[in-house]
Amino acid sequence: MEKILELKHVAKTFDHRVVHKDVSFHLHRGEILGLLGNSGTGKSVILRSIIGLEVIDSGEILYHGNRIDQLPEKKLFSVRKSISYAFQSGALFDSISVFENVAYPFFEHTKLKEPEIEKKVMEILRIVKMEEAWDKMPSEISGGMQKRVGLARSMALEPEILLYDEPTAGLDPVNVEMVLDVMRVAKARGSSGIFVTHDIPAASKICDRFIIIKDGRVAFEGTWQNMEDSTDPFIQSFLTGSEKV
Ligand SMILES: Nc1ncnc2c1ncn2[C@@H]1O[C@H](COP(=O)(O)OP(=O)(O)OP(=O)(O)O)[C@@H](O)[C@H]1O
Ligand SMILES: [Mg+2]
Repeated sequence: MEKILELKHVAKTFDHRVVHKDVSFHLHRGEILGLLGNSGTGKSVILRSIIGLEVIDSGEILYHGNRIDQLPEKKLFSVRKSISYAFQSGALFDSISVFENVAYPFFEHTKLKEPEIEKKVMEILRIVKMEEAWDKMPSEISGGMQKRVGLARSMALEPEILLYDEPTAGLDPVNVEMVLDVMRVAKARGSSGIFVTHDIPAASKICDRFIIIKDGRVAFEGTWQNMEDSTDPFIQSFLTGSEKV
């Protein structure tokens, strides 16, 4: 299977706080990889490093075999068209409408004319079941809806890779299922994904493979079945929920 993204021996320290000692893993084309680990193990930092919002201290991040970890800002712009980060908070622009939030990447990254953009935006809003709220402002919709609009914006350009940072956190079960459905559609449209989450049941439904970060390293890599078969007490505690994840 083709590795479209690969982290090799990534290390990262903030001031005196060592977050990553030696993190290596890869993402195959077409899969959703679950990225698990306790709070503070650096999952968000990994996602931020992939799109160049953090600079790693050592190691390599390869996209289709090319290093992307030391790129100048100008080149990061095109990386961020292919690798899209769905922020933990949704991170909508408050002063523009739902429609304009989703249209934004098209104006930023494409030369499409307005009627085409309008068609695409409405199509994506339908996928996230927000087409009726197209003219609402972010403050007028619920947190769950804001997350879905954030997802719509990240998947707008059909990125090759979607980085999902806790897209189901804080949502009620109905909204969780809606978000998982959106992730399935994104996958069917050709986006591979990295799914950072503490929601193990949600991850088990949608991820093809998992890694668990612990003490700055990858402590586990494998399928759900491998995880269930593992006799490692740490892995077992993850599955039973006794380990706080
Ligand atoms: N810009 C920064 N400057 C200094 N320290 C940072 C910065 N970003 C992250 N950290 C630290 O790095 C560590 C890992 O943070 P990160 O947000 O990646 O954890 P996480 O695994 O995503 O946690 P959670 O599951 O709670 O979201 C934390 O100790 C955090 O305080
Ligand atoms: Mg995080």
